[in-house]
Amino acid sequence: MPNDERYDGVVLLIEYHDQVRRRLAEIRTIEADLEVGGADFWEEARTLAGDVLDFMDTYGPLHEQDETNSLLPRLINALRRAGDDQSASLQLVAEMDEEHVHFREVWAPLAHDLALIATPDAVLSRRHFRDSIAAIEAHYLPHFEREEASVFPLAHQWLSANERHEIALEILGRRGRRHGATADPDTPG
Ligand SMILES: [Fe+2]
Ligand SMILES: [Fe+2]
Repeated sequence: MPNDERYDGVVLLIEYHDQVRRRLAEIRTIEADLEVGGADFWEEARTLAGDVLDFMDTYGPLHEQDETNSLLPRLINALRRAGDDQSASLQLVAEMDEEHVHFREVWAPLAHDLALIATPDAVLSRRHFRDSIAAIEAHYLPHFEREEASVFPLAHQWLSANERHEIALEILGRRGRRHGATADPDTPG
């Protein structure tokens, strides 16, 4: 079972990053096509904006808990056990955790714009929308890249397969609780 990559918590964390990247690209498409407009565009944009809003409102806070409560404490313990020469890695982990504090405030303006798009006849400021997208891209994407390039490799180096398995079960458990089910490796998110 631990050989199944769905039971590696780090794999699940990367899957979420990829899902967010896809959705940010979709939002960019909406922004680029705003000027063209038209009934078909708005129908599609409303659905897409509503879907992205639901996804990020649901899974954004869960992903933050996955890292802050499941991954990082285990990693910090492992690095401390490894000795003093891990101070640079511990610093990096602390910085990643610190950046999570600002995620919700960076997300809020874009969430507001997506809610406007999802609401028929609401007035949207294109400039505000463009700035909101740029702000979230500037905060989320480099954070994801640093985690994938630096933090997650530390998890593979210092955490056992069993510890990564425990992380996966906690991640799946959070989604299961939210959906009123037990942990299941096929649960999305
Ligand atoms: Fe993170
Ligand atoms: Fe992350």
